[in-house]
Amino acid sequence: MSDERPRILSGIQPTGVGSHLGNYLGAVKRWVSLQDGYDAFYFIPDLHAITVPHDPAALRRRTLEAVAELMAVGLDPKRATLFVQSHVPEHAQLGWVLGCITGFGEASRMTQFKDKAARDDLGTATVGLFSYPILQAADILLYGADEVPVGSDQSQHVELTRDLAQRFNSRFGPTFTVPKPTVMAETARIADLQDPAKKMSKSLPPAGTVLVMDAPATTRRKIMRAVTDTGSEVRAADDKPGVTNLLGILSALTATPVAALEEQFAGSGYGDFKRAVADAVAAELEPVQERYAALLADPAFLGDVLADGADRARSVARETLARAFDAVGFLPPAGAARW
Ligand code: TRP
Repeated sequence: MSDERPRILSGIQPTGVGSHLGNYLGAVKRWVSLQDGYDAFYFIPDLHAITVPHDPAALRRRTLEAVAELMAVGLDPKRATLFVQSHVPEHAQLGWVLGCITGFGEASRMTQFKDKAARDDLGTATVGLFSYPILQAADILLYGADEVPVGSDQSQHVELTRDLAQRFNSRFGPTFTVPKPTVMAETARIADLQDPAKKMSKSLPPAGTVLVMDAPATTRRKIMRAVTDTGSEVRAADDKPGVTNLLGILSALTATPVAALEEQFAGSGYGDFKRAVADAVAAELEPVQERYAALLADPAFLGDVLADGADRARSVARETLARAFDAVGFLPPAGAARW
């Protein structure tokens, strides 16, 4: 049965010790919510994860944790196709072909490559890191994705994907769907609790970052100790970045406009307000944590989910790869009509 919903695809990094509240509100929940209106393909880009120095045992563990986290948040592997990139060999295969139509100068202009290559803590930049965006283009084109829900930091890679698809199609005949140049609108921009001038990030000290998997008592303590601003009014304002950030968090979690929250907390002190924020975070995350623990306790089940996801992904990827191989003039293997 063909699926009439537009197709989306996104790669979801197997992050350190799980997402923080900024990732959760800005991306993870969004991916989950897209599974109804779209024919969604989500995968863990483990091939991309080894483009910088990494620990093999941690990568394996985090891959499974990322899958468990997405499912704990509500991703339903029956509605969306959830898989691990290395389970689908077509990604690397198409990546090679696309690398052969990518200009060296073109790849050298990718800002994420330049940023990562300049970071001393990541060691010497590798050829794998250089071709990262080309592999990402292969990820997207294999599935004929119409849209790619990613943050603005990835828009240059989506642009490259469009360029490569158009170039391939005009050189070798119509083969790939050219994805739309859309990025996810940035809704909740969650700031660090200790330094609200900065975006919440795991590279900042842990006191300012709420992890989805933090123990509830830890989360509560971090929120109660969040920096607030001079004065005592619960109001969003440029000179009140700490309070504004907490209002943003509460607003996103309770789907209540900031103005309504300001009204609700008029006359309350910062203490009561922070308690309300901590309660809302706990109410949101505790059920996620329970489901997460239950899922991780059953790796055989997660393995089955991923095997099924890889089967479904491969049935699409194989078709696209065969069309691309045929278009570039590879000789089909004897005895088989296709690769
Ligand atoms: N580069 C993306 C990121 O850092 C992850 C990714 C890999 C991806 N392949 C993808 C995202 C394909 C969208 C589509 O977040």
